[in-house]
Amino acid sequence: MQLSPVLSGLAQYPFARLDAWRAEARAKGIDVIDFGVGDPREVTPAFIREALAAGITEVSSYPRAAGLPELRAAIGEWIARRYGISVNADREIVPTLGSKEAIFSFAQVVFGERRVIAVPEPGYPVYERGALFAGATVQTVPLRESTGWLPDLDAIDNWDELAAFWISYPNNPTGAVAPLSFYEELAGRAAAHGFILCSDEAYSELWFDTPPVSALQVADRSHVAVFNTLSKRSSMTGYRSGFVCAPPELADALRAFRPSVGTAPQEFVQRASVAAWHDEAHVDEVRALYARKREILLPALEAAGMRLAGSEATFFLWLAIDGSSEAYARKLLESGLLVAPGAFFGPAGEGYVRIALVPTQEECERAAKILREAS
Ligand SMILES: Cc1ncc(COP(=O)(O)O)c(C=O)c1O
Repeated sequence: MQLSPVLSGLAQYPFARLDAWRAEARAKGIDVIDFGVGDPREVTPAFIREALAAGITEVSSYPRAAGLPELRAAIGEWIARRYGISVNADREIVPTLGSKEAIFSFAQVVFGERRVIAVPEPGYPVYERGALFAGATVQTVPLRESTGWLPDLDAIDNWDELAAFWISYPNNPTGAVAPLSFYEELAGRAAAHGFILCSDEAYSELWFDTPPVSALQVADRSHVAVFNTLSKRSSMTGYRSGFVCAPPELADALRAFRPSVGTAPQEFVQRASVAAWHDEAHVDEVRALYARKREILLPALEAAGMRLAGSEATFFLWLAIDGSSEAYARKLLESGLLVAPGAFFGPAGEGYVRIALVPTQEECERAAKILREAS
């Protein structure tokens, strides 16, 4: 059978390995608390679930790639409230089926004469995977603790070859945030050299002290595409609802491309999403909850010898550890804590582990007790 050589050339999706580890540990009778995958297990607020149910119609028809006008408007109003800028919702916003599919397929839309897509390392694996399946050449851009987990832009010398440059702040896995000056500089280079700055802002709402800025706030948005999602903000991973905000020409290209893939969100999901984008009270509660879990767990992790090495925002704790991250994670699993080895996010993640604060508060308390007893 002839299968895609890209598929067979890829390592197993790293998080599939965590599933196998969890199953193995449970088979040995270990009670596992899962800090591995960033899938919030918080309740989706009732008003969002109710809006979903109310959105189900007797007759079902294909959703359109452009999305419902009320969803585009709700997202545009959220952007205005959150970042103080005005976008043309009908021209610049495209609703997506969560942001993963839009991130994955983006390379197929921007990839023309230019062959190179820059992706951060360590980083979310989908930027690279999408580029490879599109036939692009991947250029990894190192992120290091010494530079605050920001890329060293002066080390890049092939700007004119780039089709797109992916960044994501607040960052997965490091939890680092980026200042507006960084976005300004990169957006300026994108406009000068003709590539798209792709800013994945999936964790923009999970902050502790100061709300992070967005690439949408730069002076020249002509080469900027921002991806955001309700998955983390509103604990809606299962709904699959996000958006891309891009200059009109690029948004038109997405609207032309996406009907071939069939990735318009279901209309009942879009109606639930309208309710979610209009409300901030539940997001305040979500933030308070992650802050509480962080307060419970961080001192115990530090007492166990781990050092916080980023984590200014997001629900991730990125911790420096001694030795191999995989061996360290395996050892923690023996005491019932499943965490992601940093090496799963690329070679520069070695020496770190990532803890997603997604188990319940009670489980976090239990984990802190386990760590204290072991240290
Ligand atoms: C950095 C980053 N971007 C994007 C996503 C995609 O989220 P979703 O497809 O649920 O919107 C995730 C999910 O974990 C992520 O960690």
